[in-house]
Amino acid sequence: MESYGCAMNMADGQLMAELLAEAGHIIVSRPEEADVIILNTCTVRADTERRMVKRLGEFLSLGKRLVVAGCLASAQPGVVYKLSRRVSLLSARAVEAVREVVEANGPVYVLEPRPRRRLPRLLDGVKITIPIAEGCLGRCAYCIVRVARGPLRSYRPEVIVRAVREAVARGAREVRLTAQDTGVYGRDIGTSLPELLRAVCAVEGHFMVRVGMMNPDAALRILDDLLDAYEDPKIYKFLHLPVQTGDNGLLKAMRRGYTVEDFLAVVEAFRSRFPDLMLATDIMVGLPGEDEDAFKHTLALLERVRPDKVHVARYTPRPHTPAASMPNQVPEPVKKKRSRIVSELAARIGLENNMAFVGRRLRCLVVGRAPRLGQLEARTPSYRPIYFEGPEGLVGDFVGLDVVSAGPYFLLGQLPSDG
Ligand code: F3S
Repeated sequence: MESYGCAMNMADGQLMAELLAEAGHIIVSRPEEADVIILNTCTVRADTERRMVKRLGEFLSLGKRLVVAGCLASAQPGVVYKLSRRVSLLSARAVEAVREVVEANGPVYVLEPRPRRRLPRLLDGVKITIPIAEGCLGRCAYCIVRVARGPLRSYRPEVIVRAVREAVARGAREVRLTAQDTGVYGRDIGTSLPELLRAVCAVEGHFMVRVGMMNPDAALRILDDLLDAYEDPKIYKFLHLPVQTGDNGLLKAMRRGYTVEDFLAVVEAFRSRFPDLMLATDIMVGLPGEDEDAFKHTLALLERVRPDKVHVARYTPRPHTPAASMPNQVPEPVKKKRSRIVSELAARIGLENNMAFVGRRLRCLVVGRAPRLGQLEARTPSYRPIYFEGPEGLVGDFVGLDVVSAGPYFLLGQLPSDG
């Protein structure tokens, strides 16, 4: 089983592995050892799609039974079918049918949505990712995820709360609630994200909740209630609010459903209630029609808003999306240059923001070991990563840390010498 893509897709991969293990199958670590290979795909960008196709080719050459699951299967089944008719397809919206597909004798295609009754259980150390909904209510002109994941399907709050309760009982300390757009959670089943957050925070235990990405229009609709729900100390004061571009004309052409002013209104409301807020946003450079002026608007917005983290992506045309056939595509070298400019600006702002924390003592949750530095990794109450030297036994604990230095994407801390 190999999974790619966003937190949602990784969680789907985990759920499929759990369902198979419960049915008596054994998950092996090398494709050569497997009887069946499941490639759980992402197709968010053109280069991701190419990578999936390459990996599929490698697996085909092993001559094993093959299942392509995930977003390539749901959005572009024809791409797989063209490569081989021996491959089974399992839509990203039907992961619970994994056993049926794996145990079938020949290739099968499960492309219709199936109900979602189970959420993944696996802890990654003290962290767990729990999907709360899939699909979205948007109609963004460039996005293939809406083709892959379809309209909004929110999972029942009681299923989510039960998953949180079980995870916390098994040692989870950081609960990551994820969806394509968490802000629209519940609109299809008569509830809302703030209601869900209150129910999740009511679960007993010492843990923190990280709320995943939400679009500005969705956040604006529930703003006051959301701010109230965020007051709970269990919720990281972290907001992932993708703006994509600072140009209102482009936002409209891309059918994003909000303006730059809407985005600013949400950010300002959050910052005035939670001054330490960590703000993450996404910028997509090279959207069709992005001229020099539009790009300058994006840079000006970043200078004004000073986000703590920026995910920069270069637009690539995706099949079945209106933006792919828009005439005014931006040349690749221009996209590359813009992407570099945005990344450099974001790094400078990130460093300046983080340096402002130096000298403070913060109560942080230790979540594991930092991948490269070998130090322990903790998260501040606003979800900023903070690295420090300390004993392994602290993982899962809340500790006070003195912030002694910072980089563009992290803080450096120390356990206080005065205890
Ligand atoms: Fe990729 Fe699908 Fe996630 S396209 S980013 S795996 S929703």
